[in-house]
Amino acid sequence: MKFDADEVKALYKKSWADHAPGPAVVLESEEGQRVRHEKLAEIRRDDAPSVSVLDLGCGLGALYDTLKRRWPGTMIRYHGVDIVEEFIDYAGKMHKDAQFSCVNVFDQEFNHEFDYTIISGVFNNSIIDGEFLRKAVSWSFERSRIGIGFDFISSYANFVDERMSYFDPVDLLRWVIESLSRKVRLEHHFFRVNTAIFVYR
Ligand SMILES: C[S@@+](CC[C@H](N)C(=O)[O-])C[C@H]1O[C@@H](n2cnc3c(N)ncnc32)[C@H](O)[C@@H]1O
Repeated sequence: MKFDADEVKALYKKSWADHAPGPAVVLESEEGQRVRHEKLAEIRRDDAPSVSVLDLGCGLGALYDTLKRRWPGTMIRYHGVDIVEEFIDYAGKMHKDAQFSCVNVFDQEFNHEFDYTIISGVFNNSIIDGEFLRKAVSWSFERSRIGIGFDFISSYANFVDERMSYFDPVDLLRWVIESLSRKVRLEHHFFRVNTAIFVYR
């Protein structure tokens, strides 16, 4: 597998040194981050008063702010995990009512269950490949009681930026249906080439 945790950490640690704090730290525009988070907040399928959420690759925990705004009156038990210590430290200071852990989900034991897992922006960088994406998505689905949502950049694009990773939405949807669940929703090009898949039990 191409995924190399040290390479990912080095990329974001440099970005932290150059841009901290703010969306540019996680190599995103403010608008792109906001629209992706708004889209993935649509994952909710229940009206329970309390909901638990895992944010895999949480960066600075910005998704938590969107969920609080989009799910008013809900007690959200949010847990963000990331491999970059600087992100986890900062996110914890900014969100005292949430939980954050420095975890590379593939290296360490992490035996918690959540209602939902959201993965946003994690598969966009060119150092990420399809094998990593499938592993992260499967790992998340195993730990989610209701469902998961993730975004990626569609290969149906008019130009290619070599710094980004592109995935075929048709291939991914087929893989999800055949290996995880038939209860799926694909939202293609919800913001430029950004695409989301929701998978439910
Ligand atoms: C582009 S940022 C997105 C951050 C955040 N989800 C957002 O939307 O603002 C991708 C994040 O995924 C994290 N990441 C990449 N691989 C990871 C892994 N194996 N385990 C945990 N976090 C990972 C990176 O450190 C980085 O913070």
